[in-house]
Amino acid sequence: GLPVTLVRPAPRDDLSGRSVLSLRHHSSESISAVLALAQALKAAPRPWPNWLQGRVIALIFEKPSTRTRVSFETAIARLGGTAVTMNVNDLQLGRGETVEDTAIVLSRFVDAIVIRAASHERVEELARCATVPVVNALTPAHHPCQGLADAQTLIQRFGDVAGLAVAYVGDGNNCFNSLAVMAAHLGLNLTCGSPPGYLPDAELVAWAHAEAAIRGGSVRVTSDPREAVHGARAIYTDVWVSMGDEAEEADRLQAFGGFEVNEALMNLAAPDAIALHPLPAHYGLEIAQSVAHGSRSALWDEAENRLFAQAALLTYLLPELGQ
Ligand code: CP
Ligand code: NVA
Repeated sequence: GLPVTLVRPAPRDDLSGRSVLSLRHHSSESISAVLALAQALKAAPRPWPNWLQGRVIALIFEKPSTRTRVSFETAIARLGGTAVTMNVNDLQLGRGETVEDTAIVLSRFVDAIVIRAASHERVEELARCATVPVVNALTPAHHPCQGLADAQTLIQRFGDVAGLAVAYVGDGNNCFNSLAVMAAHLGLNLTCGSPPGYLPDAELVAWAHAEAAIRGGSVRVTSDPREAVHGARAIYTDVWVSMGDEAEEADRLQAFGGFEVNEALMNLAAPDAIALHPLPAHYGLEIAQSVAHGSRSALWDEAENRLFAQAALLTYLLPELGQ
């Protein structure tokens, strides 16, 4: 087809200069705008426009990362900006400087701060004290950049996703929470199948369900993985032992027995169902290798979409300089 010409979209009030901690409090229209730009970037030839020219973005990691780090650095480079990546232990924050002082000083240097942290509350505090946008690159509570890429993958595969049946099987964790926020904004029919004790936060589920219902969707929970996947067009799972949960490993492996996304579970979903997983995967635990690398896998597109989703998000958070 014809090459797609990228046009920088008009700024949006709830994105320009704003922080992204969960995307729960952003408008559904803004979420759709970010996803539309992400799709446009995916379709566009390179080089991309220099929408982040002159912008410097700090990336801070308190936990390991493959996809988040490389997709952010790549997105920033392709849009003409500069990333400064640090492990938290490279910062004085790692030896006791306060979050407030770190936020004030970094805000004097950089245009945005992207942070992966062991505590959601510390990222909230950083965002309160910073005068530049702060983007959550994973906390135990939310992974909004993953949620955007997950939503983009569903849109890419299914087009209009309002009412789309999506199952989440496994731990009611950060990736589920961010998927539920996307379900709220897009009107997905999301069912979470988690063992007792690992169900997602009830308040978030109630909010997401009420919001999704406005758009023809729902968010429900069950403890039966087979019930969760019945009729689903996408089956999503994530690790059973998240970063920070290592001490609970033995209990978790016991509790999640029977929750593996394998060929048999996939066969209970819709005939055209895809498999999703944020990665890294643990084969033989939450997902079978044959599913992750099989014909129903959308995992690799999902990982790639981190690049486009984050490029779109940063473009909206950092409007054109001098405007
Ligand atoms: N899915 C995800 O965030 O991967 P990384 O931990 O590799 O960044
Ligand atoms: N739930 C996982 C996601 C990793 C990308 C974790 O928090 O470790």
